[in-house]
Amino acid sequence: MTTPLTWLQRNAGQAREELFDFLRIPSISARSEHKTDVTRASEWLATRLRAAGLTAGIFETKGHPVVLGEWRGAGPSKPTYLVYGHYDVQPVEPLELWSSPPFEPTVRDGRIYARGSVDDKGQLYLHVKALQAHLETHGHLPVNVIVLAEGEEEIGSENLSGFVAEHASRLACDGVIISDSAMFAPGLPSILFSLRGLAYLQVDVEGPKSDLHSGSYGGAVVNPATALARIIASLHDDARRVAVPGFYDQVVAWDDSVREQIRALPFSEEEFRAEAGSPALGGEAGYSTLERNWTRPTLEVNGLLSGYTGEGAKTVLPSRAMAKISCRLVPDQSPDEIAALVTEHVRRVAPPEVTVTVRSLHNGRPWRATLEGPLFEAGKRALERAFGKAPVLTGEGGSIPVVGDFQRILGAPVLLMGFGLPGENAHAPDEWMSVENFEKGMAAAAMLWEELVTRDS
Ligand code: BES
Ligand code: MN
Ligand code: MN
Repeated sequence: MTTPLTWLQRNAGQAREELFDFLRIPSISARSEHKTDVTRASEWLATRLRAAGLTAGIFETKGHPVVLGEWRGAGPSKPTYLVYGHYDVQPVEPLELWSSPPFEPTVRDGRIYARGSVDDKGQLYLHVKALQAHLETHGHLPVNVIVLAEGEEEIGSENLSGFVAEHASRLACDGVIISDSAMFAPGLPSILFSLRGLAYLQVDVEGPKSDLHSGSYGGAVVNPATALARIIASLHDDARRVAVPGFYDQVVAWDDSVREQIRALPFSEEEFRAEAGSPALGGEAGYSTLERNWTRPTLEVNGLLSGYTGEGAKTVLPSRAMAKISCRLVPDQSPDEIAALVTEHVRRVAPPEVTVTVRSLHNGRPWRATLEGPLFEAGKRALERAFGKAPVLTGEGGSIPVVGDFQRILGAPVLLMGFGLPGENAHAPDEWMSVENFEKGMAAAAMLWEELVTRDS
């Protein structure tokens, strides 16, 4: 008898070929020249959802479209679950550091190399194939299913919370399933207990109308680059704590059991350092690396621009300087409040001789999981069956902006089971997803639908 699992095994090669088609579409959401590619990726996905046996529609937004797939054949007396993922990808620069072109998927050493392989096309598509496996073999699913895929995750999901609010009754569900994160180690399936939120700001410092001769004016006109450097230096204290007044006020302490679980994970600071390729690690005093990453808020400079940066020397006093700054947030920090506090601080410390503007670029709420209930229990069992090992609970330093909205607007618990791996190069050159995890991910996703109804928990 064909079961969803045997169907997936038999069709694994086909699934990979289809994923490769998906990966060949350069759906870079940040770049306007790729707008039609982003649209093409949404259409490709809608077509594949229909081929899998769901209905699918495309919803325009102010930005990139939302793809909505639905299968409601289980009927209103049965629960409904929503699978979320994103079909947009990050830019690919620096291109010269890729071993094979980012949009020509290539398998080397059991890894699928391509932009978006693991973040998030591979992890989204494995769910589509798992649904297809059920519909092809049984003709039905034990629960109702919604697939919601967006094309703006990598640029802050600005239009998605509005979409979720607007379509809240259509999207009403008993739980949300997301695969857009990594396992803690190869062979060790993982469920996330947290994601950090985000407050992203741009600081512009303006001085003289145009660049000036640094000999004729330097020392007499305040230099915007120096002013910005002083502002940035004021953002942390010597213990590498964020020095913005009020920054930590809403941080809720994690209970000791979480700290214990973190300590129990097989983690090597030295391996982490080597993987980061950094000469040394460092961060807020009093916390381990994983605690810093998962349980503490941060403020980082993401970009700096000012003055002459070309070949050789040029004696110039720049007319302006710019910094991109983002804060990763933990419960119960509010992105709006943090953006306001940082803005206020920057204005306060800015030298009066320059003009400083602070703009908020995008926001996302932090999230902490409910580690109980039928979805969480089913996820644990499905991962254990697929990987032969019980999942560990891990935190995450990154953000998926819509997750907080799912919890807030839909009131639904969110299960984050990711199939990436450490060193996967998400957002970087040579991004890859393991072939084994793509296949085990499909199996785990297929088993999840069974586990959701086979036992009460
Ligand atoms: N998939 C990531 C989130 C993530 C990062 C999960 C690291 C697990 C590990 C997501 O696509 C992402 O990159 N999010 C951005 C959000 C931002 C652009 C609003 C992030 O975290 O920087
Ligand atoms: Mn992602
Ligand atoms: Mn990403």
